[in-house]
Amino acid sequence: MPDDTLTITDNRTGQKYTVPIENGTIRAMNLRQIKTRPEDFGLMTYDPAFMNTASCRSSITYIDGERGILRYRGYPIEVLAERCTFLEVAYLLLFGELPTEPELKSWVHDITHHTMLHESTKKFMEGFRYDGHPMGMFVSTVAALSTVYPDARHVHDPASRLLQIKRLIGKVPSIAAMSYRHNMEFPYVYPDNDLSYAENFMNMLWKMVEPKYVAQPAIARALDILFILHADHEQNCGTNAMRSVSSAQTDPYLSMASAAAALAGPLHGGANEEVLKMLDEIGSKDKVPAYIKKVKDGGVKLMGFGHRIYKNYDPRAKIIKWTAEQVFEVTGRNPKLEIALELERIALEDEYFVKRKLYPNVDFYSGIMYQAMGFRPEMFTVLFAIPRTAGWLAQWQELITDPEQKIARPRQIYTGHEEREFVAMGKRTATAVPAR
Ligand code: SDX
Repeated sequence: MPDDTLTITDNRTGQKYTVPIENGTIRAMNLRQIKTRPEDFGLMTYDPAFMNTASCRSSITYIDGERGILRYRGYPIEVLAERCTFLEVAYLLLFGELPTEPELKSWVHDITHHTMLHESTKKFMEGFRYDGHPMGMFVSTVAALSTVYPDARHVHDPASRLLQIKRLIGKVPSIAAMSYRHNMEFPYVYPDNDLSYAENFMNMLWKMVEPKYVAQPAIARALDILFILHADHEQNCGTNAMRSVSSAQTDPYLSMASAAAALAGPLHGGANEEVLKMLDEIGSKDKVPAYIKKVKDGGVKLMGFGHRIYKNYDPRAKIIKWTAEQVFEVTGRNPKLEIALELERIALEDEYFVKRKLYPNVDFYSGIMYQAMGFRPEMFTVLFAIPRTAGWLAQWQELITDPEQKIARPRQIYTGHEEREFVAMGKRTATAVPAR
């Protein structure tokens, strides 16, 4: 049986090196021995955007992109979406096992009793323009909580970590709802501890003058399923930010603000908002072929399509498509669905997309459903950030307790000037700077 090693011949020196292969990888540090002279730094790997680099060992989420498989702690996403509540799945992600009934009861109690925000949070919120993007409000307010909970700096204290985890999972719906109410210039609504996680979120969003908010059950369940689907996704851009920033032992509030900032990008969690803009731009089903041509000419991307890992249908998109039908039975069918279905139909047959293995991802149908529920596109990524908080915190906990991890500090290939003489002011020539 051949041993799990890789033998490399450096043709510059004829020297051979044998390095171990572990879990389908070689350690980049094992390349540093490959030199032409003893004083050489040694070889590094160059991997822009980490296309082929494992940054950590993780047991939280497993994705098989070719087969469209997604599992949290070994459980298929389809089973969890059908059989669990979001808080049950958040517990699984964070602690590795599905909770027993008493464990779940205690967990729900604790999260429910961390939904309140300090009154000072209103002052943060009032500082934003009423029409500011709610993701900017969400990111800033999460970071601001670092000033409210200085005990969060004790990142190596398990009890402190657990307290911040409960606080963040409990408070992100309150922050999200507060940003929405600020956008609408409505008074804020306080949490109602009688309600479930999704129902209370709806209460803080949509309660007006009625004495007690009553959530529409199908909408509440749909939100819970969407929260489960968005909870974690291994080392995506936002999670990479969470791990990188918290590797400096930054507190979880500031670290999570960086993760949410990454999620806001239109190529990442911001794509669900871009999908709605794209469908609005297309306007009607008959204009889909012309838009597809525009995409193939390279002018625009088909938002909500494609994925770094999935080279098959994103399993979450399938479940979202099914959940959308449940929502439309209550809200009425979103007319944009016809445009989206036609886009999908054509794209799945067209060589350009088939060759590049571009399939609908989690963002393709979620926005259509959110809009039918009454959310404005600006809120879509905030709806993504709420459940992803559980994933980010599970990944943070794993990083902090991983003895192999230390502060993240990549290397570079330097392409700048060699040392050069200083130039006195009078001898400098103007540098062409880009127009303002
Ligand atoms: C999320 O990582 C995660 O897990 C993220 C996420 C999570 O749960 O955290 O799943 C959430 O971010 C989902 C992705 C949402 N983004 C979008 O829907 C934006 C549109 N998609 C693309 O921008 C793109 O597909 C990415 C960013 C998602 C992935 O980009 P990659 O892996 O860097 O792929 P690429 O850009 O190198 O594309 C390969 C080829 C290129 O064509 P060629 O240069 O080979 O000719 O495919 C083309 C791209 O131009 N391509 C697209 C396309 N996506 C890729 N062409 C048209 N439309 C698209 N959407």
